Amino acid sequence: MMDHMSSWFTEWWRGGTAVVEAATQRDAARLAQLHGASFHRGWGETEFEIMLAERNTLVHRLRLGRKIIGFAVSRMAADEAEILSIAVAADQRGRGLSRNLLLTHLGHLAGRGVRAVFLEVEENNQPARRLYERAGFAVVGRRERYYREADGEQLNAVLMRRDLS
Ligand SMILES: CC(C)(COP(=O)(O)OP(=O)(O)OC[C@H]1O[C@@H](n2cnc3c(N)ncnc32)[C@H](O)[C@@H]1OP(=O)(O)O)[C@@H](O)C(=O)NCCC(=O)NCCS
Repeated sequence: MMDHMSSWFTEWWRGGTAVVEAATQRDAARLAQLHGASFHRGWGETEFEIMLAERNTLVHRLRLGRKIIGFAVSRMAADEAEILSIAVAADQRGRGLSRNLLLTHLGHLAGRGVRAVFLEVEENNQPARRLYERAGFAVVGRRERYYREADGEQLNAVLMRRDLS
């Protein structure tokens, strides 16, 4: 593990501590850019503007200094929510930043009265599965050929759930 001094240096070098906060309409273009770089079927700026305006949709951004480097989106219905998307910019991955993003997002869902959270993740997406497992999600189902890749390959998804109360 790093000692105190070098962790301070590393943090300074990376531009400070990443913070999780509510996303605003002004983030729509950047969020669409991040989404498009992370997923084969990207959401456009307009789609983000609509989601940011919807009362049943919760969007958080991950900010490092002046840069938005990630986001989490979920949709609420009664006392359940579905995480629709979560991503961290490719050049910022592998540093554990997604954990705080997800846990903060879940905390806000709990604050809105959500008691169970669901999500679907591609079966072989190891970073995402690790992230969700460590955040307390468990596999509750499997969906065959749920995702279609650009090359036509069909991939399975697992359905995961975590209770918040
Ligand atoms: C999933 C994602 C948000 C994780 O963000 P991150 O900040 O890089 O996450 P972390 O650094 O905490 O890594 C998560 C876990 O995956 C592991 N991991 C990272 N890269 C990996 C790889 N190539 N293979 C296997 N495991 C890997 C990490 O070791 C970590 O596990 P650990 O906590 O046991 O050490 C990020 O990879 C991403 O944006 N992916 C593209 C979008 C996506 O797939 N989103 C999820 C589906 S909606």
